[in-house]
Amino acid sequence: MDVNKCRVIELPKIADPRGNLTFIEANDHIPFDIQRVYYLYDVPGGAERGGHAHQALHQLIIAMSGSFDVVLDDGEQKRRVHLARSYYGLYVCPMIWRELDNFSSGSVCMVLASNKYDEADYFRNYNDFMAARLDK
Ligand code: TYD
Repeated sequence: MDVNKCRVIELPKIADPRGNLTFIEANDHIPFDIQRVYYLYDVPGGAERGGHAHQALHQLIIAMSGSFDVVLDDGEQKRRVHLARSYYGLYVCPMIWRELDNFSSGSVCMVLASNKYDEADYFRNYNDFMAARLDK
């Protein structure tokens, strides 16, 4: 099941009384090269993001501040993952429908991505996503 290929990765954490430090190095801590970083912020209470899948994009999703949930769906199985620590990253492989909700106030969701933005890589319609999965 593809949803089980998605996993929470514990990132290195240098604990320090002056403030903790976490770092991510390509291929060392995550299974892809980073081509893009984007982040969601100022998310109003009750809002939902995502609601799409990617054909080829690999991503790592991190709650840099606050918390939110990611619902992963491979067409057969669903998993809800709560992210609340900036030293955990959720790896999301290609062909996973994802929805993000339950954002806490002031939360920041950072995403590391394996490619630049490409609208052609998106499935924005759930039925199209399901049809593509069955074709595989
Ligand atoms: P989308 O990926 O649908 O957002 P989310 O999954 O977080 O809900 O993108 C929302 C809009 O932003 C859409 O018009 C495409 C644009 N966008 C970019 O221009 N570059 C990017 O890197 C991303 C992620 C989105």
